[in-house]
Amino acid sequence: MKPVKWGVLSTAKIGVEKVIPAMQQSEICDIVAIASRDFTRARAAAAELGIAKAYDSYDALIADPDIEAIYNPLPNHLHVPWSAKAAMAGKHVLCEKPIALTADEAATLIDARDAAGVLIEEAFMVRHHPQWRRARDIVRSGRIGTLRIAQGCFAYSNLDPDNIRNKADIGGGGLYDIGSYPITLTRFLFEDEPIRAVALLERDPAFGTDRLTSALLQFPQGQASFTCSTQLARFHAFHALGTEGWLRFELPFTMEPDRPCRIMIGNGDLPGPLPADVETIEPVDHYTCQGEDFSRAIRNGDALEFPLENAVANMRVIDAVFRSAETGQWQSV
Ligand SMILES: NC(=O)c1ccc[n+]([C@@H]2O[C@H](COP(=O)([O-])OP(=O)(O)OC[C@H]3O[C@@H](n4cnc5c(N)ncnc54)[C@H](OP(=O)(O)O)[C@@H]3O)[C@@H](O)[C@H]2O)c1
Repeated sequence: MKPVKWGVLSTAKIGVEKVIPAMQQSEICDIVAIASRDFTRARAAAAELGIAKAYDSYDALIADPDIEAIYNPLPNHLHVPWSAKAAMAGKHVLCEKPIALTADEAATLIDARDAAGVLIEEAFMVRHHPQWRRARDIVRSGRIGTLRIAQGCFAYSNLDPDNIRNKADIGGGGLYDIGSYPITLTRFLFEDEPIRAVALLERDPAFGTDRLTSALLQFPQGQASFTCSTQLARFHAFHALGTEGWLRFELPFTMEPDRPCRIMIGNGDLPGPLPADVETIEPVDHYTCQGEDFSRAIRNGDALEFPLENAVANMRVIDAVFRSAETGQWQSV
């Protein structure tokens, strides 16, 4: 398959440190250009990563006729504006999560996508990891009975006032950054959308961003809950309980490319969280998988497994969690 030619908008840490090197491992992803607001930074990143072209503006990169697909890891408030611009220039777009600041804003990308006839996907790399596909297969097989509960926790500590996550006006805060993962993955496992949400949310008094959020989601088939925080010790957990058994994930959200993942499978016969079975998933880089799945869809003309409509649905849940925290009431999704 002819490699897809990719351009990257900005020298964002996630791109330079994780996504670009991972996509460079693939024979079907060719990163040909990187842009920065600062040409020196673009040139330095291009030299370090062996990228042929550096641009001094995002506009210049988008205008490059060689480039077929854009990876957009800009701060959250720039996801929709630059993804729309890239789409209107005829580029396919893989855009970092969260795709937008609201579901309404995300929905505007559907128009841009359809007008331009390109593909746009929200870059939730975890869904491209075989661990989560395997978990979904186990749920589908009925091995844990009927899925009724999914619970997640995602926390780290970041007190840097200059970090984009601690800037309220550009889409900072824990819910956008990490609460979005348990939301995506509970929707992925239930293969359905929640009906309503209720939430507690605490903001950092100086940053104005949400630093501790817990929410309860009612799905047609069961319930999900999660907590996320940007000011707690680093911790990840996720488990799913069915009528006949359960799944527990050793590394639910940030799977390392050199470390196997383990899914613990319980049947309720052993005490507490002790599994009856453990499935090991061989190490793989989910950023490579994500880039390859998207590149293959471009080349083969396939529909995306996670189209923009899925990203809009995820944003609807985030909107409902924010609304519930403000009103203290249940909110329909
Ligand atoms: N999927 C994942 O695993 C994952 C992990 C981490 C982050 N992310 C997502 O990736 C995005 C970037 O996160 P990051 O931590 O890599 O961010 P970051 O290092 O702060 O990078 C953001 C980049 O955007 C550019 N930029 C343009 N306007 C800006 C502004 N007003 N303020 C700050 N930067 C601006 C800058 O690049 P130039 O100066 O070069 O133009 C900057 O380097 C976020 O949406 C985040 O949610 C995803």
